[in-house]
Amino acid sequence: MPVISYANAKGGAGKTTAALLLATEIAQRGQSVIVFDADPQKWISKWADLGNRSDGISVVSVVSPSSIAEQITDARDQADYVIVDLEGTENLIVANALSVSDLVVVPIQGSSMDARGGARILTLISKLEKIVRHDIKHCVVLTRTNAAVTTRAMKAVQDFLCVNGIDVLYTPIVERAAYRDLFEFGGGLADQDPKKVTNLKKARENAALYAAEVLERAKEALPRKRWYEFYKRAS
Ligand SMILES: Nc1ncnc2c1ncn2[C@@H]1O[C@H](COP(=O)(O)OP(=O)(O)OP(=O)(O)O)[C@@H](O)[C@H]1O
Ligand SMILES: [Mg+2]
Repeated sequence: MPVISYANAKGGAGKTTAALLLATEIAQRGQSVIVFDADPQKWISKWADLGNRSDGISVVSVVSPSSIAEQITDARDQADYVIVDLEGTENLIVANALSVSDLVVVPIQGSSMDARGGARILTLISKLEKIVRHDIKHCVVLTRTNAAVTTRAMKAVQDFLCVNGIDVLYTPIVERAAYRDLFEFGGGLADQDPKKVTNLKKARENAALYAAEVLERAKEALPRKRWYEFYKRAS
């Protein structure tokens, strides 16, 4: 079903965290997810190896530039959602994955470097749209935001996105220790112990709202599915 990719040409923007949060929220709803781990650091593969309640989530760790589009296309028929966690750069794997995505989510932290990395992905998407000859739906999610204050740098990023008419999720992903803990202890937010994790309730609320917004956009993108027909015809 829908293919949702996470991309930002700048490293450390929060792609892997945002991708894992979405995967675990989907699994929590009882639906199946295949995650393509195209991040060379393989954090999501390592998370899966922790083996702590990752029911419903399968992780594909081996990807290559020549196979990724076909791998994603095949996975589409095998799970309710396909999520692709990409490297913080622009390479052939990134371009091929984006070209077969229904929705591209671009995580951006409140810094001009992150915004520029995000802008490079948005430019790449518009080039790919001309090649595949259909729109590739995309949106930005602001990440690691401060729950209490909006910094000047974040305000500048928000202004830049607004001026350029870029779709930004209403829900940012707040800076929370609970999100880092997933990579240490495995499982999803639902599996963490509120006695041991600070602000777990708030993290769960934030993740649920963020996931709901992404899934709503993925649902809207799905009826077009033209890339999928294109690949089916070509193969
Ligand atoms: N919302 C958040 N709350 C707390 N920590 C976060 C959050 N988002 C990201 N981090 C931390 O920031 C760092 C970078 O995040 P992450 O690995 O998700 O980024 P990335 O874009 O996937 O990086 P790369 O380009 O290296 O793949 C990690 O240490 C992660 O734990
Ligand atoms: Mg990553």
